Amino acid sequence: MSPARHARTRVTVRVPAKINLELVVGPRRPDGYHDLATVFHAVGLYDEVTVSHADEWSVRVRGPYGDRVPTGPDNLAMAAALRLAHACVDDPSPVAICIDKEIPVAGGMAGGSADAAATLIACDLLWGLDADRELLDSIAAALGSDVNFALTGGTAIGSGRGERVLPVLGRGRYHWVLAVSEEGLSTAEVFVECDRLRGDRDVPSPEPSAAMMTALRSGEPAALARAMSNDLQEAAFSLRPHLREVLDAGLEYGALGGVLSGSGPTVAFLVNGAEGALDLAVALTASGAAYDVKRAVGPVHGAHVVETPRVP
Ligand code: C5P
Repeated sequence: MSPARHARTRVTVRVPAKINLELVVGPRRPDGYHDLATVFHAVGLYDEVTVSHADEWSVRVRGPYGDRVPTGPDNLAMAAALRLAHACVDDPSPVAICIDKEIPVAGGMAGGSADAAATLIACDLLWGLDADRELLDSIAAALGSDVNFALTGGTAIGSGRGERVLPVLGRGRYHWVLAVSEEGLSTAEVFVECDRLRGDRDVPSPEPSAAMMTALRSGEPAALARAMSNDLQEAAFSLRPHLREVLDAGLEYGALGGVLSGSGPTVAFLVNGAEGALDLAVALTASGAAYDVKRAVGPVHGAHVVETPRVP
């Protein structure tokens, strides 16, 4: 790999978690995936990925959920680095990847996809590739259904299996409380359960709802709370009945609305302002309904380079 003009010794990229304000699941496709119509929303709960030149390829994960992340070849950040390297250069030089993890693992918040997106941006800059967005998007889509959105951030409609992302011009800044479960859920298993519950019922082609689009244009938290929905919620509740109690507890303690994030098990509660978020976080923590409780604001930007990393 030839040294490029802008090459640096180390690059850190910050990348947000996502929740799904709406998730409409269409029929199962011949390739095993499901067509979706979803509204992604990036929230201010971040992983940071640092890449630096090294003698051999490696990945290491720090932070509260760090020990739950695989560090072998099935790590999505490593897969992202290797795919970008092979797409752009004949003889890629190895990198060490360090993930500083705050996003819950297997929580329905696309933490692994976020790390993959961050790694693409970080390696592109470290290696001085200046890859165009089209190439990054095609690698992102090959890595997973949520990686493209992690590059984009904000609020956006996802279609296809989730990889086709179109930003939504919405108003408003929303306050969220996230009820995190101790044990993650497998996305694939939740989709299988969704299919099982549907049986041989006819499933229409998925569309985002008019109510959701109107709510986003209004910027009104109460309207957004009424419009939130997730077709995977019943399936996740069927696999983890306790999640229904988590949702009920949040609503009882004053949330405007609550919805499962992605395939779960994280439940996202929309609240009124920072004060409402603090009140609900305290109540949920005291009740013991959730394993961990986090607060975040959305929408926020997608993967972006930071000059002053959280952990240098
Ligand atoms: O693409 P990603 O790795 O996030 O997907 C994990 C699994 O979730 C897939 O292997 C598939 O079983 C299921 N899935 C699906 N339809 C989608 C996205 C994911 O069935 N649109």
